[in-house]
Amino acid sequence: MPNIVVIGAQWGDEGKGKVVDLLAPCVDVVVRYQGGNNAGHTVVVGKDKFVLQTIPAGILHAGCRCVIGCGVVVDPSSLIEEMESLVQRGVSLDGNLYISKNAHLIMPYHPALDRASESKAGRRRIGTTGKGVGPAYADKAARIGIRMADLLDERLFREKLEANVFQKNRLLREIYDAETFTVDGILGPYLRYAGWLAPYITDTALLLSRWIDAGASVLFEGAQGTMLDIDHGTYPFITSSSTTAGGASTGTGVPPTKINGIVGIAKAYCTRVGGGPFPTELGGEIADLLRARGNEYGAVTGRPRRCGWVDVIGLRYAARINGFDTIALTKLDVLDTCETVKICVGYRYKGEVLTDFPEEERIWHEAEPVYEEMSGWQTTTHRLRDYAALPAKAREYLDHLSELIGVPFSIVSTGAARDETILVQDSALARWFPALRGLLPAH
Ligand code: IMP
Repeated sequence: MPNIVVIGAQWGDEGKGKVVDLLAPCVDVVVRYQGGNNAGHTVVVGKDKFVLQTIPAGILHAGCRCVIGCGVVVDPSSLIEEMESLVQRGVSLDGNLYISKNAHLIMPYHPALDRASESKAGRRRIGTTGKGVGPAYADKAARIGIRMADLLDERLFREKLEANVFQKNRLLREIYDAETFTVDGILGPYLRYAGWLAPYITDTALLLSRWIDAGASVLFEGAQGTMLDIDHGTYPFITSSSTTAGGASTGTGVPPTKINGIVGIAKAYCTRVGGGPFPTELGGEIADLLRARGNEYGAVTGRPRRCGWVDVIGLRYAARINGFDTIALTKLDVLDTCETVKICVGYRYKGEVLTDFPEEERIWHEAEPVYEEMSGWQTTTHRLRDYAALPAKAREYLDHLSELIGVPFSIVSTGAARDETILVQDSALARWFPALRGLLPAH
């Protein structure tokens, strides 16, 4: 049974939630390996829309075990809210949700520090989601973080909390002139959260290892995207975790040798939310059109997303860093009304055309995209389920894009709903998960 990783190939919001939801019936376990409640994975089921922030999208499928891995940072109050809202909507969490003992906690001072540092950053502002994700990972790296297991040990939790509150209050007061916290003000609610979450907190690396040895198939759910990776993204305009393929191992405790394939998720165009470089960013009418047709507003913050043409330089880089076996291309239908569609095939910088993604921040900001322009198909692809039924010009666009990236497509998504999806019949995903052919018939 294959163990497969799903990774965003751009700056997040590529539609990973939909793809994980499609693949979940074919696997036994879905494990989230990084990020926190900065993510908003949208899944449309019939007339219902679910936005999952910390819980893997597999939770919507009865019998699918869902794991929050050690690489995730968990805001317990937000997680409990998410759990309650799922239960109210008829989703069962009994016996199918597991939280790593080693996952770090987002504490109330983390969002406060996140917002305070952003407010002083001026033009270097990252545009974070304000959820405290960066400061929580900073504490993890500084070895002063508090983990899920600590929540179950009141004495140790208090000791770590006291040290942190002392340190964070000095920072908040003296550097940021912001409000401070008391130990008791945090202890009370966090001990209540501990009571709530205790039945779910466990050694998930051990469980995953046992399940895999017993033949289970595991799907690794990434959050955000390659270009937001702490090492490989557009640093410092990134999130603070390892969004790329290596993160699937470190964020779960499953060794790389147990991973059988990597799927990249890419949109047929490109978006970014927050600050930072975006070489193919568009302004004016075409950006407005993509934003309106693609409903490009942050699932967590509601912020309008910046929109641009698809960027092959970035996608080839994502394919190289992650080792994509295949790509699921989403939101093709958003381009349906475009007279022409553009593909960025180079970055022009100081008279030279770069075709490999550069590592220098200055180049990302100053490079001008070099485009290939293709004729649009100007007819609807919305809801199509058969590759052969796509307009010839849409197929030309897809074939050319896949060839430029150097990675074959497995899925082309033509709408938000589960069945608004084309499965490429002889693709890697169809081979790994033969049941998909029954779930996504061409007609
Ligand atoms: P943080 O993760 O809240 O620290 O935000 C850092 C950067 O990552 C900002 O540019 C955010 O807009 C971006 N970001 C974080 N989570 C997501 C996501 O789920 N989708 C897209 N962008 C995200």
